[in-house]
Amino acid sequence: MSEVSGILEAMRAARPVFWKNEGKPPAEKALSRLPVGMADILEAEARLARFAPFIRTVFPETGQGLIESPLVPVPSAREAIEKAYGKSIPGSLWIKADSELPVAGSIKARGGIHEVLKVAERIALEEGLLKEGSDTSCLASSRAREIFSRREIAVGSTGNLGMSIGIMAAALGFRATVTMSRDAKAWKKTLLRSRGVRVVEVESDYSEAVAEGRRKCEADGACHFVDDERSLDLFMGYAVAALRLKRQLEEAGVVTDSAHPLSVTLPCGVGGAPGGITFGLKSVFGDAVKCWFVEPTKACCMTLAFVRNTPEVSVKDLGLDGPTEADGLAVGVPSALVWGLVKDLVDGALTVEDPDLFRLLALLRDSTGRRAEPSAASALMGPLVTGGTPGTTHVAWLTGGLFLPEEVFGEMLSRGRALLKS
Ligand SMILES: Cc1ncc(COP(=O)(O)O)c(C=O)c1O
Repeated sequence: MSEVSGILEAMRAARPVFWKNEGKPPAEKALSRLPVGMADILEAEARLARFAPFIRTVFPETGQGLIESPLVPVPSAREAIEKAYGKSIPGSLWIKADSELPVAGSIKARGGIHEVLKVAERIALEEGLLKEGSDTSCLASSRAREIFSRREIAVGSTGNLGMSIGIMAAALGFRATVTMSRDAKAWKKTLLRSRGVRVVEVESDYSEAVAEGRRKCEADGACHFVDDERSLDLFMGYAVAALRLKRQLEEAGVVTDSAHPLSVTLPCGVGGAPGGITFGLKSVFGDAVKCWFVEPTKACCMTLAFVRNTPEVSVKDLGLDGPTEADGLAVGVPSALVWGLVKDLVDGALTVEDPDLFRLLALLRDSTGRRAEPSAASALMGPLVTGGTPGTTHVAWLTGGLFLPEEVFGEMLSRGRALLKS
């Protein structure tokens, strides 16, 4: 049996797989073929910097108005995971804690907030609310809110993108509508409604929720649809994280070069967030960084696209469309845009079974006191699977969890602890 058919057979049986992008070109070459580059990342970074005064005004918890999360070494988690899985992790283990990202509580804040701010900036310039170079804190005024309230921003989401779009759109005064798929958790819908966001529930999967949201919004000239499957503005917002991670690594005294590679595991749904960050990291570190996507075995759409070398895939092709507890990753069809941008950059992909999400979430909590949602905990599987050397710096990108209600997290934790004992 060829390697590809062996992987496909395991995927069909919803067993975990690990695929390596063996034939990929050097990062520099792959990047040179793309229609986007470092200039686009820097433009997004500059936009976020321009909006820092506005963000500081409406979200004082961000301090200087930059929405950023800590990078933390977690030797105790490494030890706990190694012990529980009976396998060693070569190198050191760090977490990038987007699970503590202020304002929107997940990795999706990076792209979502960037796109909403880009829309707001364009309208503010057109309406004379802002001039080039003026202080964006004036956009917190009632006049600005009144102007934004004539427009709508809409999105289809499994939850966390909706949260980032909804919270930032509502903070500016836009009307915000989030169409949510059947996998979206009840507490996320409740939280959004409490922020004044209109939540439309559909009994379909994520792709259909996006299509439904897009269709409704397109019929309305005053509506901007944030398209999780097709948006470069989202992608560039995610990519900015790479510049920030570089600074954090330098501040922590961590050297990244070919003898000390960075090995980053990124939970993947439709692909935008891990894709944008991979594009950013490869642009910053070249081949000294390895980027791995991780997906639930039951929603392994991007892995399938990589293995089959085409984005025209659906997990239904494998007979999979079962629910997964990783609601943020519950996506059956990958973004063709993102696949095209990262297929020659990504180092590989792995899949994780749902019980491991809870085991890892419990191991993290009990060793460090930190919380992560199941989708985010999947990142902790990366260092066990992807290998490395004693010089490797593993970064598990913990993509969400800030807003998890305590009782919901408590149930997840009990489930993880019970699984670890059994
Ligand atoms: C917690 C979490 N992690 C990772 C992702 C993956 O992002 P993407 O769908 O852009 O691949 C999501 C998406 O919503 C998420 O909510």
